[in-house]
Amino acid sequence: MKVLVVGSGGREHALVWKISKSPRVSKIYCAPGNGGISDLAECVNISATDVVGMVRFAKQNGIDLTVVAPDDPLAMGMVDALQAEGLKAFGPTRDAAIIESSKVFAKHLMRRYGIPTAEYRVFESYDKAVKYVEQVQYPVVIKAEGLALGKGVIIARDFDEARDALKSMMVDKVFGEAGLRVVIEEHLAGPEVSVLIFTDGKTIIPMVSAQDHKRAYDGDQGPNTGGMGAFSPSRVYTPDIASEVEDGIIRPTIRAMAQEGRPFKGVLYFGLMLTPQGPKVLEYNARFGDPETQVVLPRLKTDIVDIFEAVIDERLDEINVEWEDNAAVCVVLASGGYPKSYRTGYEISGIDEVLKDPDMMVFHAGTKKVDGKYYTSGGRVLGITAIAKDLDTAVRKAYQSVGKIHFENMHYRRDIGRK
Ligand SMILES: Nc1ncnc2c1ncn2[C@@H]1O[C@H](COP(=O)(O)OP(=O)(O)O)[C@@H](O)[C@H]1O
Ligand SMILES: [Mg+2]
Repeated sequence: MKVLVVGSGGREHALVWKISKSPRVSKIYCAPGNGGISDLAECVNISATDVVGMVRFAKQNGIDLTVVAPDDPLAMGMVDALQAEGLKAFGPTRDAAIIESSKVFAKHLMRRYGIPTAEYRVFESYDKAVKYVEQVQYPVVIKAEGLALGKGVIIARDFDEARDALKSMMVDKVFGEAGLRVVIEEHLAGPEVSVLIFTDGKTIIPMVSAQDHKRAYDGDQGPNTGGMGAFSPSRVYTPDIASEVEDGIIRPTIRAMAQEGRPFKGVLYFGLMLTPQGPKVLEYNARFGDPETQVVLPRLKTDIVDIFEAVIDERLDEINVEWEDNAAVCVVLASGGYPKSYRTGYEISGIDEVLKDPDMMVFHAGTKKVDGKYYTSGGRVLGITAIAKDLDTAVRKAYQSVGKIHFENMHYRRDIGRK
């Protein structure tokens, strides 16, 4: 069968890699893809948000399955558009993807169905929001409603910071429409864990747990990024907590979406905080996370194409999903200066050396390939994933491999997998 993957980051490279292991797949396309993906798939020059172009390509090329990975095309209804043409597509419809694309929807859903989350209020008026933050406890968390490239959440330490955040979102409209409504919520504390599940809207299959590192520098310092690394499993997500989360959060969420007439089919990502009062939901993502996917999929034994089809056909209960009893760590190599300004176009060396070890994977995020050589083309450049029997060994292996890779101004964190 022919499979099309939509997207161009490290997550999509991991997806393409895992799909390429399926004996059922004869050809993979990726739109738009990147330098590393082009070694496994034919990259097609269609933007991930070009819904019309993607549907046309899938039809003309007889694509048997399209996997829509990023948030934007899901929120725009790419899965709906593919299905309307009789094409098989993996991912939630637009009505279901709203669980990520509107934080207001997600918060109201959790309140209505008793799913544990931070206390909150929603504001559409800047003046009313400012009045409210004059009398709240600090720190307080301010969130733009919509998709904001991971930059729409501000933890305000005092009134001045809160007012500045509200002004930039609601008056200066730095996130456009996405910031016109805001959620102001209680600040929670505790370790953060990412739990992803496969679901066909009825059956749920949790994946192995993961934790990511969002800040740019060691010790969780510096600005937030798309993610500087991840590891799996989490050391703090015990079987007891997992069953509490499954019963109190995951199942109620899937039931709630069905009851709202928005059955969720695809991968649902639960961003959790393990607070002293128990696990609470920080947010939902309607898709695989990046870079969590780069540590979760290498641990998956089962053919992922079988899982995708079972989700689409609503027979996930028939699938036995198996995981390796091991650990994975992914260290992201970024362009110096990321997430602010950085330069690209530098040649990358050492990838072949790393790949001599079968337990090492190099997932490309921002690279392009020219005449057989890889060059940097983005902020996050590569994710170096190591597989080992336990986390400490995987950390050591990942950093040994990082030492073999070179490009101008390479930046990475030295404490990935150590929390
Ligand atoms: N209520 C909260 N209390 C403390 N920290 C929070 C809270 N909500 C979010 N955060 C922090 O902000 C980060 C981003 O928030 P999140 O809701 O995941 O939005 P997004 O991923 O869309 O930027 C979280 O990973 C967490 O570190
Ligand atoms: Mg998040």
